[in-house]
Amino acid sequence: MDTVHRFIATYDSVRRHPNCSVIRPLFLLILFFTCSFQPAYALAGPIPPSNLRCEYLVNPLGIDVRQPRFAWILRHSERGQKQSAYQVLVASRRALVDQDRGDRWDSGKVSSDESTQVVYSGTALKSGHTYYWKVRYWDAEGRASGYSQPAQFEMGLLAREDWKGQWIGGANQLRTEFRLAGTVVRARAYICGLGYYELRINGRKVGNNVLDPGTTTYEKRVLYTTYDVTPYLERGSNAIGVMLGRGWYGWWCRSWPAPFSAKNLPLVLFFQMNVELANGQRVSIASGPSWMAKDGPVTSDHIYHGETCDARLETPGWDQPRFDSAGWAPAKVTEGPKGVLSAQMMPPIQVVDTIVPFVMNEPQPGVYVYDLGQNISGWAQLRVSGPPGTKVTMRFSELIYDNGMINTANLGPAKATDTYILRGEGVETYEPRFTYHGFRYVELTGYPGTPSMDAVRGRVVHSSVETTGSFVSSNSLLNQIQRMVHWGQLDNLQSIPTDCDQRAERHGWMGDAQISSEEAMLNFDMAAFYSNFIRDIRDTQGPDGAIPDTVPDRFCGPNTADPAWSSAYPLLCWCMWRHYGDRRVLEENYEGLKSYVGFLRKGAHDNVVRFFNYGDWIAVEPTPGALVADAYYNYDVQIMANVAKILGKSRDAETYSQLAGQIKAAFNREFYDARTGNYGNGSQTSNVLPLFLNLVPHDRMSPVVDHLINDINRHNGHLTCGFHGAKYLMLVLTQIGRADLAYKIATQTDYPSWGYMISKGATTVWELWQERTGVGMNSHNHPALGAVSSWFYEALGGINLDADGAGYRHIRFEPQMVAGLPWASATIGTVRGDVACSWSSAPGVITVDVTVPVNADAKILIPKPAEMRETKIQEGDRTVWENGRYLPGDPGILGANPGEPNFTFEVGSGHYSFRLTGE
Ligand code: BGC
Repeated sequence: MDTVHRFIATYDSVRRHPNCSVIRPLFLLILFFTCSFQPAYALAGPIPPSNLRCEYLVNPLGIDVRQPRFAWILRHSERGQKQSAYQVLVASRRALVDQDRGDRWDSGKVSSDESTQVVYSGTALKSGHTYYWKVRYWDAEGRASGYSQPAQFEMGLLAREDWKGQWIGGANQLRTEFRLAGTVVRARAYICGLGYYELRINGRKVGNNVLDPGTTTYEKRVLYTTYDVTPYLERGSNAIGVMLGRGWYGWWCRSWPAPFSAKNLPLVLFFQMNVELANGQRVSIASGPSWMAKDGPVTSDHIYHGETCDARLETPGWDQPRFDSAGWAPAKVTEGPKGVLSAQMMPPIQVVDTIVPFVMNEPQPGVYVYDLGQNISGWAQLRVSGPPGTKVTMRFSELIYDNGMINTANLGPAKATDTYILRGEGVETYEPRFTYHGFRYVELTGYPGTPSMDAVRGRVVHSSVETTGSFVSSNSLLNQIQRMVHWGQLDNLQSIPTDCDQRAERHGWMGDAQISSEEAMLNFDMAAFYSNFIRDIRDTQGPDGAIPDTVPDRFCGPNTADPAWSSAYPLLCWCMWRHYGDRRVLEENYEGLKSYVGFLRKGAHDNVVRFFNYGDWIAVEPTPGALVADAYYNYDVQIMANVAKILGKSRDAETYSQLAGQIKAAFNREFYDARTGNYGNGSQTSNVLPLFLNLVPHDRMSPVVDHLINDINRHNGHLTCGFHGAKYLMLVLTQIGRADLAYKIATQTDYPSWGYMISKGATTVWELWQERTGVGMNSHNHPALGAVSSWFYEALGGINLDADGAGYRHIRFEPQMVAGLPWASATIGTVRGDVACSWSSAPGVITVDVTVPVNADAKILIPKPAEMRETKIQEGDRTVWENGRYLPGDPGILGANPGEPNFTFEVGSGHYSFRLTGE
């Protein structure tokens, strides 16, 4: 996202700040200056590439892809620009790239417009080595840019023999000491501690990751993290200490809402540190039997229940050299998990923000309740001083009773309780390491004395993906909904996409994952996160091709997943292709996808899949589950046909297209009711899914559309859909020219609607349309219904991928200027750069501003107000349409036509400001 759009996004959040009136003028001033001064290179033609990424990551450490892919973003001072060629240099030393030399790979001048997914094709990359790279490009006229600033990437440990460590365990703290006989010039630590670890060297925590490593199917795969630990080491004596937590490791099953059954395996650690000294010596420190073990102050930890830390059990200096380890036992060498060690190549979970509570109450003597004003995932940081042994307890909830006490009824068996027992020395600060909660309220009991507002801070914890999108409009309710989706989605990125973050669940429910994936990709840079999750999905696939309802598979439910859930496998792969142009994900998963579709096909009778578990989950009005399942079967096969085509597998493409046709015919036979002219039972979702998937034959279109619209009207402009209908209802209404009705649905404030949630104080999207606060299934932070945010970007923001536009190569701007919404603005940070669209509509004048990145082109559809005469369109200060004719000549505009109901301009890259006026 460029600076200006980042400012606009930030401005949006500033507007909601309680001190908005003070901050706002200041903010606008900064925005003015940012926009006014163009950097000097704006005059220069092709500008050196920026935002260099390797495997979607910025300067990654420890990647284990032997042929990593590169990406960069292009800028150019002129419009209508493309890359005609590129040159990548990869060198083993920084000095070489600085001299424009690539001793590992010099691609030479490659004629190509690819600026993303460029595959490394040099000599074999070596374990643990750092490589430096840069790139330049040639524009459409063959002018070369300068080289980019160098970036770097580093390989992880690629071969079994590179690993010298052993899996060890024996207690939740492990330590070792060692001496280094020289100055350290480079040191890397490779660590996997299960379930979670905290790595400490010489008294300091290493890095900012928490709840690391990401959870996986441990029998198949475990993730290790690489740290640059050079600054943590010293010549002479050094010490390493590792704390271990249970995390998800070894959990195999649960059942909701009954108490879950969980089997936890002993905590284990795999560690290796490779150190290079100034004298040329290389030393490896690895986990093994010489390490010592002893349980530390964390006396219990559990993801659902919380953590107990008895600070009296701390042994100061345990993570420093010259510690007296009397009472510590030798660590046990164990077998460790069965899964392969893979590099963690995604944004780690981190503490990304700290929230100051805005109010504290004492609803009962000694019970203090803090309100953060926002439902978050994470924990609280506690500041306290008091006598040793004082036990302070923090409990967490999303809800509060009228009497001010916290309401934990919706957490199920999750105890969500952190306990700190004071060491009794001065001010003590505690925050847990191995648990997290979904909460807005913190209840503090056992506090010695009266706590101040400063006793508690909210710590926001989730996968540290970058926010790359923003949507803002003149309707503050929509902005509030967008904000609620944004928070809820982030809260539920916990190395996997989770269904919720508070109750005894938090699984990678696949239906939730797929339905929210587009929203997530529009709001955040999800490429590395989903690359990891798709591999997780593949790890769980059965030999028969089946995919479970949850990934990792931790739910003791039906043996066969609901197809609307397991379809996350093809749908996520497809989204990776559409949004990021990721061809490799299609190649790597092609066989897996075929086998998955083969599984569905085997389960189908007469080309209809009838099995399901959940259907259109949490709908206000039910839809036959078989209809939902079968619609997804068709969707999956349509995706397979497309994937086969993209990969050049034409025979498969043909087979899958034919199969999709057969499923379509069977769907119509099975689910269309000629008597009523409805699909299924005539619910909104029953008619929406076939409309969305083009399953409705031409002659049935108008009755089906009429039924859908009548049903919405009958419900006074409300939806009645669950997870699966809600997303596609908005898209279908937009496609059939009824964005106005979708807008009406989106801006309702009574039940059932997103606005209803807001009216009841929601700060994250609920699981249910109903307001429920008692025992049972009613999470107040569930991303699935937040899928509506993709409609904000696509319909109201107007930013759409064109049919063959994977990776935003071809964009279609088609803002829906619905009555009652004077303006909207959206930006998406894409693999090609920022794509933006802002519009305003007032009587007699429409403006549309768009940004198209270099290497992309776009169609811009500007609505033709039916009542407007003498229409004139200007772009910047040039007139491009007047007296019914297109006036060519504006740079970057390739053509225009006045089709109905829009004017369409075709443009190359650049920023364009259209202004349509008329009588
Ligand atoms: C989860 C859902 C999930 C569902 C399956 C629930 O308990 O929270 O979001 O998709 O189970 O129906």
